[in-house]
Amino acid sequence: MLEIIDLTKKYKSLTAVDGLNLTIADGEFFGLLGPNGAGKTTTVRMISTLTPKTSGDIVIGGESIDRNLISIKAKIGVVPQQNNLENEMSAWENLEVHGMLYKMPKEKRRQKIDEMLAFTELTERRDDLTKNFSGGMKRKLMIARALLHEPELLLLDEPTVGLDAAARRKMWDLLKRLKSKGLTVLLTTHYIEEAEILCDRVGLIDKETAETEYPG
Ligand SMILES: Nc1ncnc2c1ncn2[C@@H]1O[C@H](COP(=O)(O)OP(=O)(O)O)[C@@H](O)[C@H]1O
Ligand SMILES: [Mg+2]
Repeated sequence: MLEIIDLTKKYKSLTAVDGLNLTIADGEFFGLLGPNGAGKTTTVRMISTLTPKTSGDIVIGGESIDRNLISIKAKIGVVPQQNNLENEMSAWENLEVHGMLYKMPKEKRRQKIDEMLAFTELTERRDDLTKNFSGGMKRKLMIARALLHEPELLLLDEPTVGLDAAARRKMWDLLKRLKSKGLTVLLTTHYIEEAEILCDRVGLIDKETAETEYPG
């Protein structure tokens, strides 16, 4: 599903990602584990085409990101580390705008919005402004939005950072339900426990090392 080959990102003299190699199979729930500053967010941003890579390649479903940007964008759903919801819009409006951007036909769009609100347990709050949501609800809405256009690959950048223990456990339950659906997922985290609980396979990135291990 996803193949990362010698992926490198340099910001002037700083190398944020240094020759990362990684393959994620269809249906795999992969964890990229590393401390703050290891380059996890930079990697996710390169895969989701938000940041240009310096060198190397990213291949998604057999297509290189260099040549098939538009079709690749449609295949990916992204939940960024930072909240980027429209805070003056309701949950439903945030999803509606996303569906329109992805050119989903109206009927399909409305049906998927209802489905995703139910999946993330936000149906009751659909008409509330997202600025009034808790951190956990905002994160769930970003997941609903990332899944709306039915991507093949979901990128989750630190999905539980900043959440309290109860909200984190709820998020893990939601991610386990996602996993049981067989979607391919790349999750980043700096919590070893989170990687152990959720992931089939874990890759460690650090300043000096990049290797892949099977937990447990
Ligand atoms: N836009 C940027 N400009 C310059 N340096 C950056 C930028 N974004 C990230 N970095 C640097 O790249 C490194 C990796 O950051 P990041 O990918 O955010 O790590 P992580 O998500 O693993 O905490 C850090 O040293 C960070 O300061
Ligand atoms: Mg990060």
